[in-house]
Amino acid sequence: MISTKTLIIVSLLGVMIASGCAVSEAYNEEELGLRKADLYSEKSVVGEPTAYSTVAAGESKMIQRSFENAPPMIPHDVEGMMEITQESNACTGCHMPEVAEAIKATPIPKSHFFDMRTQKVLTEMSQARYNCSACHAPQSANEPLVKNEFKPDYRKANGMERSNLIDNLNEGVR
Ligand code: HEC
Ligand code: HEC
Repeated sequence: MISTKTLIIVSLLGVMIASGCAVSEAYNEEELGLRKADLYSEKSVVGEPTAYSTVAAGESKMIQRSFENAPPMIPHDVEGMMEITQESNACTGCHMPEVAEAIKATPIPKSHFFDMRTQKVLTEMSQARYNCSACHAPQSANEPLVKNEFKPDYRKANGMERSNLIDNLNEGVR
């Protein structure tokens, strides 16, 4: 038989351990967010400046695709190429298939010469693809606050540098 005294001591000890643990796991509000600052004030919060590539087109290093058929990020400076208007689109000037190869720019892929609604191949680039920067963005050189553990799988050996969406567009659908 356990005496009442022992029982009380044991349960008290339990309470002490439990509360001890709770204390060591407590966070104050400054530590809760990734920014490690007061959550109720923006005063001391300074965002890291954006640092886009300033390397001219033709001299930049391509950025590896995030996953198979991800829209590639723009590795070069886009100064003077934005914004894209009805009258002018600098991007097509270098990336249209007929000129791209000569200047070593990746040609606009076949998927951009295809009507997704009617599923028909077009003779001209689809108007839905005209505004390149809606999908292709430059990348700012900042250290991520949380490491990305995602590891993409590419079914083709060159999947991290070329896309082939038009070939497997409706894969698994039909
Ligand atoms: C003066 C020619 C030129 C212009 C204008 C230009 N690009 Fe480029 N682009 C290139 C070249 C060349 C590369 C290959 C990387 C390099 O050599 O800098 C490239 C690379 C890219 C890539 C990466 C392709 C890949 O395979 O990873 C994307 C995306 C891109 N450009 C999008 C754009 C967009 C969007 C615009 C318009 C805002 C644009 N480019 C304007 C020449 C150009
Ligand atoms: C609606 C979104 C969207 C728009 C708008 C768009 N793209 Fe893309 N782009 C993509 C996606 C998604 C891919 C990758 C899959 C694929 O091949 O379609 C891609 C791929 C590319 C590639 C890589 C081709 C390869 O062989 O690896 C180039 C270059 C490119 N786009 C250039 C452009 C240019 C230049 C424009 C504007 C004239 C543009 N894109 C407009 C979504 C878009």
